[in-house]
Amino acid sequence: MIKGCIFDLDGVVVDTARYHFQAWHRLARELGFNFTEEHNERLKGVSRMASLNILLEVGGLSLTDPEKQKLAAQKNEWYLEHIRKMTPADILPGVTEFLNLLRSVGKKIALGTASKNARIILTQIGLSAAFDSIVDGNRVANAKPDPEVFLIAAADLKLGPKDCLVFEDAIAGVEAAHNGGMKCIGIGHHDILKKADKIIPGFKEATLDLIEF
Ligand code: BG6
Ligand code: MG
Repeated sequence: MIKGCIFDLDGVVVDTARYHFQAWHRLARELGFNFTEEHNERLKGVSRMASLNILLEVGGLSLTDPEKQKLAAQKNEWYLEHIRKMTPADILPGVTEFLNLLRSVGKKIALGTASKNARIILTQIGLSAAFDSIVDGNRVANAKPDPEVFLIAAADLKLGPKDCLVFEDAIAGVEAAHNGGMKCIGIGHHDILKKADKIIPGFKEATLDLIEF
């Protein structure tokens, strides 16, 4: 029986994936090339610097580390312009209800994200207190598909990997959950998240059946 649920943040709890895309798209345009939604799938779940490296690969550019630091900081500034306007109304439909449902039956709840902006986002949307553990990009050295982020979350919850279930919208995130020995529910489309153990479009209709295997 699943005892702990670990939620990715971007694209699962909030729709920040589109803000990430807008900021990366703007950066690519300034660098002189086009960056598509399809390219963007490769960035989901991936750390800021690893995302920049993928973007530069798409554009066929090779830059120095200081140049990359500057671009990553610029992208984050553009991204934060969106984040600072977020409110509790930006929590994706059904998420708050599902978290409350899990809590009401005694499940432990963690956040497991590559984002270094997680704390700001949780404050903006008023969801900081909903998680027993928050594992963000400041606490992990190895990016998804490495399972580190979810293994730290499970350890925080004092649970083994087999007791935990991950909710993810990214291919790298589904792989990270599996690499850590956890089952994974994909949030999104079948054609992208094929490897997930179950796939739902969002939490609107989610019931406790979802966490039964
Ligand atoms: C992940 C997103 O959650 O966080 C990625 O899916 C993003 O797209 C990564 O690059 C890092 O986010 P941040 O907020 O630290 O730039
Ligand atoms: Mg995500």
